[in-house]
Amino acid sequence: MLKSLIRTVPHYPHQGIMFRDITTLLKDPAGLRDMVARIVARYQDMQIDVVAGIESRGFIVGTPVAYELNLGFVPIRKRGKLPSETVGRDYELEYGSDRIEIHVDAIKPGDRVLLVDDLIATGGTAEAATKLIEDMGGIVVECCFVIDLPDIGGRARLEGQGQKVFALCEFE
Ligand code: PRP
Ligand code: ADE
Repeated sequence: MLKSLIRTVPHYPHQGIMFRDITTLLKDPAGLRDMVARIVARYQDMQIDVVAGIESRGFIVGTPVAYELNLGFVPIRKRGKLPSETVGRDYELEYGSDRIEIHVDAIKPGDRVLLVDDLIATGGTAEAATKLIEDMGGIVVECCFVIDLPDIGGRARLEGQGQKVFALCEFE
């Protein structure tokens, strides 16, 4: 049901990319509720201290999850967007490269962090995010995605680095 609400847009933003578009899922009241509820159910007994979400679609997924878990939300943002002191990492995308940053005071040493994004493809973004969290002394309890694209290998890449990965659905 959740998977059927995700729209595929061929050749966006580049020729050959099958873009998995969650806007159709977000717009559906039951779909949105189901997405958040399934993530919350998985993590409610895992002693998470804080939810971190990756800009921009990770904000949409991560914030209601944090709210429902009675936790705070930490944004991991693209370069130059955060106003206070940051640490950052560069990474490669399925289509291009970028840099993400986090406020230096957003995560305390020993914090158990749930990392959330809408989708994992190459895993480059999530890998950079896990390293940022760990640079600050945080413990990444699990990396949670709505969509995994297993053929692209991001999940295996993260698991090869010792991270735990969970996704609500997969697309080839
Ligand atoms: C997309 C997606 C993930 C990332 C996955 O974000 O939301 O963050 O790419 O790709 P990867 O596993 O190959 O790193 P994008 O950078 O397109 O930004 P957006 O959420 O602002 O659209
Ligand atoms: N981010 C990286 N690859 C993507 C894809 N195929 N669909 C949606 N977002 C993405």
